[in-house]
Amino acid sequence: MKEIIDVELRTRTVDFSKCKTDLLAVGQFSDAKGLDKVSAELNRKLDGAIERLIKLGDFKGKDGTNAIVYGNANIGAKRVLLVGLGERKKSTPDTIRKAAANAANKAVAMKTDTLSLALHRAFGGRFELGTLGQAMAEGTYFGSYRYDEFITESEDGRLDRLGVEVIDSDSAKTKKLNKGLSSGTIIGKAQSYARTLMNRPGNMINPVKLAAAAKEMARGSKSLSCTVFDEKQLAAKGMNGILAVGSGSQNKPRLIVLGYTPAHRVNSKVPTVGLVGKAITFDSGGISIKPAVDMDQMKLDKTGGIAVLGTMKAVAELGLAVRVFGIIPSAENLPSGTSYRPGDIITTFSGKTVEVQNTDAEGRIIMCDGLSYAIKQNCDVIIDIATLTGSCRVALGKYMAGLMGNDEKLIKQLQRAADDSGEKVWPMPSGDEYAEEMKSKIADLKNIGSKWGGACTAAAFLRQFVDDKKWAHLDIAGVELFEKATEFSAEGSSGFGVRLLTSYLMSLVGK
Ligand code: BES
Ligand code: MN
Ligand code: ZN
Repeated sequence: MKEIIDVELRTRTVDFSKCKTDLLAVGQFSDAKGLDKVSAELNRKLDGAIERLIKLGDFKGKDGTNAIVYGNANIGAKRVLLVGLGERKKSTPDTIRKAAANAANKAVAMKTDTLSLALHRAFGGRFELGTLGQAMAEGTYFGSYRYDEFITESEDGRLDRLGVEVIDSDSAKTKKLNKGLSSGTIIGKAQSYARTLMNRPGNMINPVKLAAAAKEMARGSKSLSCTVFDEKQLAAKGMNGILAVGSGSQNKPRLIVLGYTPAHRVNSKVPTVGLVGKAITFDSGGISIKPAVDMDQMKLDKTGGIAVLGTMKAVAELGLAVRVFGIIPSAENLPSGTSYRPGDIITTFSGKTVEVQNTDAEGRIIMCDGLSYAIKQNCDVIIDIATLTGSCRVALGKYMAGLMGNDEKLIKQLQRAADDSGEKVWPMPSGDEYAEEMKSKIADLKNIGSKWGGACTAAAFLRQFVDDKKWAHLDIAGVELFEKATEFSAEGSSGFGVRLLTSYLMSLVGK
C-alpha cells in the first residue's frame, strides 16, 4: 500500500534570489502598494516579469490564488510562485497557513522535487516568526496531503517525497522560524496521520482495527499508554450505550483509552483534560436507516475519535506538561437481526436510562459512556468532539464547528485556540430548554428531541452526563469533509480537530 507523501521540512539561510529550488513561493497582499523587498529583488533579476504579470491583471493577490513566473539565469529558482494573501488588515496566522498549503498543493500537483517558502516576508513584523513558522509547517503538510493509498496505478502518479524548506537570508530570522517549524511539523504530521485513518472506508477500518492502530501509535511513545476494552469488558463495566450501538455489526465495538503522562512535572494549576471523540466507523443509521444518497460519507463518522487520536500523538511528541486522557468510544452502526431497535431502553454506564427513539441518533449513545468514563478518571476539564448532528451542518455549513458548553472560560479558551489553529468554531446554546426536550416518559432520557435545534438538543443530552465538570462540546458535522478539492486541500477528510485541540492544550502550558 502506498504511504502518504513524505515531506521533509527544514529551514535554510540563503539569499532569496540565489536559492536553488524547483519552486520558490512568495506572498503578495491584494492591497499592497507595490512589491515587498523580496519580490522586488526577484522582479529586478527577472527583468520586471513579476510586475508585468501583476500589471496585466493576471494576478491580484487575492487569497486562494497563485501565479507562476519562470526563472532565468539571474536567479536560482526554476519558478517563482506568487501566492495571494488577500487584504493585509484581514490577515491572521491562518493566512500564511493557507498560503503554504496552497504552495505545497501546487508543488505536489506539478510534481516538483523541492519547494522553498519565503511567504513570511510579506507579513513584515505583523506576527512573531515562530508563529509564522509553525503555521507554514502545518500548511505545508495540509496542502501536500493526498489520500491515494488504494490507487494502484503508478503511471502519472504523484512523487513519493517532497523536500520543503523555509528560507530567509537572515540567520537570526531562520532560527526564530525554525522554533515554530518543529512544533508545526509535529502537528502537521499528526493531522495527516489522522486524515488517512479518517479517510479509510468501513471495510478497511472498524472499531477493532482502529483500536489496533491506536495501540500501534502509542507503542511509539514512552509517555503514552493505550488500553482497549473489548465487548466482554464493556459488558462487565456496564457500558451498554457503546454495546447497543455496536450490536448490529459483526465488527464488535471497542472503547479505546489513551493516557498521556508527561515526563515533566505538571504545574498544579494545569487541569487534567479528558478528550472524548466519537468514532462510529460507519453510520448507516441502523434500523432507522439513512437514505442512500451520500451515505458513503458516513465513513467519516469516526472523525472526532480519530481527531482525539491524532491530538494525543501530537501532544506526546510535543511533550506538553499537561495530563491528558484520550477516550474514544467506537462502534459500527448497522441494521441486522442483532441490532438495537427503536423503542429499546438502555442502561448507560452512568446508570441513567435512555429510550432509543431513533437508532440514527447513535453518537450521543456511545458518547455518554465515554463522558462518564472521563469523569471516573477524574478529569477536571472534558472536551468532546463528534460528527454529531446533520442539524449542526444545516446551521453552520461547512466552515465552522458548533461549540457548546457549561463554562465560559473554557469556551473562550477554545475560541482562542480556534483562532490560532484556523479550525473555526461558533458558539451555540445547549441549556435547560433543550434538555427539557430530551426527557422520556418511560426512561430518564430519550435520544431525540423535537424537529428543531437538533445540534442543541444533542448537546443538551450530553450535558446530562458530565455532572458539574467543566465541559465543552464540539459538533464537527459539516467541517469534517471537503466534498471537492480546494486550492489548499485535497478532497476528503479535513482532519478537523487535531490542530484545534492541540492548540488548546498548548495554550494551557503557555505555548
Ligand atoms: N453521524 C450523523 C450526523 C451527521 C450528519 C454527520 C451529516 C455528518 C453529516 C449522526 O449520527 C446522525 O445521524 N444524526 C441524526 C440525528 C437525528 C436522527 C436526531 C441527524 O442529524 O440526522
Ligand atoms: Mn447517525
Ligand atoms: Zn453518526
